[in-house]
Amino acid sequence: MELKKELVLVAVLVSVSVVLEKTVTVQGEGTCVGFYSRRCPRAESIVTSTVVSHLKSDPTLGAPILRMHFHDCFVRGCDASVLIAGFGTERTAGPNLNLRGYEVIDDAKEKVEALCPGVVSCADILALAARDSVVLSGGASWEVPTGRRDGRVSIGSETSTLPGPNDTVAQQINKFQDKGLNTEDLVVLAGGHTIGTSACQFFADRIYNSNGTDPSIDPSFVSFLRQICPQNQPRKRVALDTGSQFRFDTSYFANLKRGRGILRSDQVLWTHPSTRPFVNKYLATAPFNLQFANSMIKMSNIAVKTGTQGEIRIKCSAIN
Ligand code: HEM
Repeated sequence: MELKKELVLVAVLVSVSVVLEKTVTVQGEGTCVGFYSRRCPRAESIVTSTVVSHLKSDPTLGAPILRMHFHDCFVRGCDASVLIAGFGTERTAGPNLNLRGYEVIDDAKEKVEALCPGVVSCADILALAARDSVVLSGGASWEVPTGRRDGRVSIGSETSTLPGPNDTVAQQINKFQDKGLNTEDLVVLAGGHTIGTSACQFFADRIYNSNGTDPSIDPSFVSFLRQICPQNQPRKRVALDTGSQFRFDTSYFANLKRGRGILRSDQVLWTHPSTRPFVNKYLATAPFNLQFANSMIKMSNIAVKTGTQGEIRIKCSAIN
């Protein structure tokens, strides 16, 4: 009788652990909300207060921090490989040359390291800082699953997996699909362009073209863009979401609908039938906020290193 009871107990424990394992897997391939709650309970609040103080003195930093996290995740997974400095690293590659805000991540890391040495990864700090940048710009918040570890490899040429400003919808869909993200994820995450700016060089050929301007641009918008981007001034910058550069809102999608997308890769999301329904859907705030958070959590879990993989970097700009 006793043996039978024990067997039942073992069976129950096994099935509970199977269920738990399943839950963890579903949550995000090894990451979970509150990963540091025991070993470094103040980690998340330190990251937030660091981002708050930097954005207070320079509100333009939120956008490049969000972009930095995207560029990290799309190359070797979200493992902070984008933060490693040195010859030939991702950081020195073309698509990352205009990234800014490294000092914000370094500052947060230094503060967290002083309190809990060797515990909190740079990859997690970047994921949390990206979320905080969205919230501080007026976007809705979400809980970031943590537990990523930092990579030890960063190769500049691997940034070719990132989408480019002239990519077609098919190319963008393929690049997202390669990372496990679908067409809806693509459109809602492109909504990250509701904040920040682009250098004129990435779309100058749309407004200065001997064969006529890009027909998908609102003609009255062309003259506006030419004023901000005079010919041969490729480094000047223009808001990706005209009229609402600092607000995390849905006007980026409204601008696409009016032919006021800045990059070719933005405007085609409206002109192409497979992405247009999502642009229409995200003209409304509630669905945009909800799906942006969901898709960010998905993106933040691309090929994450957990457990004994990688390392916890001491300084975010260098492997240990
Ligand atoms: C879908 C394909 C995408 C393409 C082709 C693309 C391309 C670009 C380009 C060319 C710029 C201007 C860069 C510069 O001037 O150096 C830019 C800026 C930006 N991107 Fe994207 N991007 C894409 C998706 C995303 C995603 C998924 C996010 C985040 C969720 C994002 C966030 C940003 C932000 C916030 C900026 C402004 C950065 C700043 O102000 O410094 N982008 N993007």
